[in-house]
Amino acid sequence: FPVSVVLPAGGTGERTGLQTPKQFCPVFGRPLISYTVQAFERVSWIKSIVVAVAKENMDLMKEIIQRFQHRKVRVVQGGSTRHRSICNGVLALGEQEEQEAAEGEPKVVIIHDAVRPFVEEDFLFKIAMAAKEQGAAGAIRPLVSTVIATTSEGFLDHSLERARYRASEMPQGFTYDVIRQAYQRCTESDFDFGTECLHLALQYCGTNAKLIEGPPTLWKVTYKRDLAAAESIIKESLC
Ligand code: C5P
Repeated sequence: FPVSVVLPAGGTGERTGLQTPKQFCPVFGRPLISYTVQAFERVSWIKSIVVAVAKENMDLMKEIIQRFQHRKVRVVQGGSTRHRSICNGVLALGEQEEQEAAEGEPKVVIIHDAVRPFVEEDFLFKIAMAAKEQGAAGAIRPLVSTVIATTSEGFLDHSLERARYRASEMPQGFTYDVIRQAYQRCTESDFDFGTECLHLALQYCGTNAKLIEGPPTLWKVTYKRDLAAAESIIKESLC
């Protein structure tokens, strides 16, 4: 069954403290996002990839596509928040997906952060299959730290029982109908806050996601030191 991918890459990467957004930072002469795109391009059953980038980086992304000969990729303009970027990507899948839906099969959209380059085919397959069957699916990981709520004065309010909670990671998968409807029905404040697409699917479509524990390599490049870690993983894979 045809699977399409939306890669939100419209962020400015403020937490790295670098001038260049982390997805465009070079690792062995190649921008990080190019490794992520390649991970999806290698998967034969993935048909198309839409990358959502900030307006000022659209030309840069197009250059990257040409230079590294990415073939399945289209660029769309991102939005002011991550949800808006994802929504633009999903809508861009638009007509093409609707045509396929008319032929009867549920179509799956995988959403994945551009800054998680080490995703592998077998895990993508698990997510895609679960999304096809359940309508939505997402990667989770055990928590490494306990989550606590703080008071506005900087004291402990309450703490959560770590064993009961999980970190929500990427990739996530949805049938095209579910993700499109979730974004059509959600509110402006959903777009501006919250980072959980799975929650939108549950709230606006009644679709409860299947959660699947993923490998540690799903980790997100967030800080400057993560770029060095990504570099050493890529170096190992090149040897
Ligand atoms: O900031 P954070 O690490 O949560 O970003 C996760 C992903 O969302 C990144 O790939 C980033 O580029 C993307 N993003 C986006 N549009 C925004 C903000 C973030 O596509 N406005």
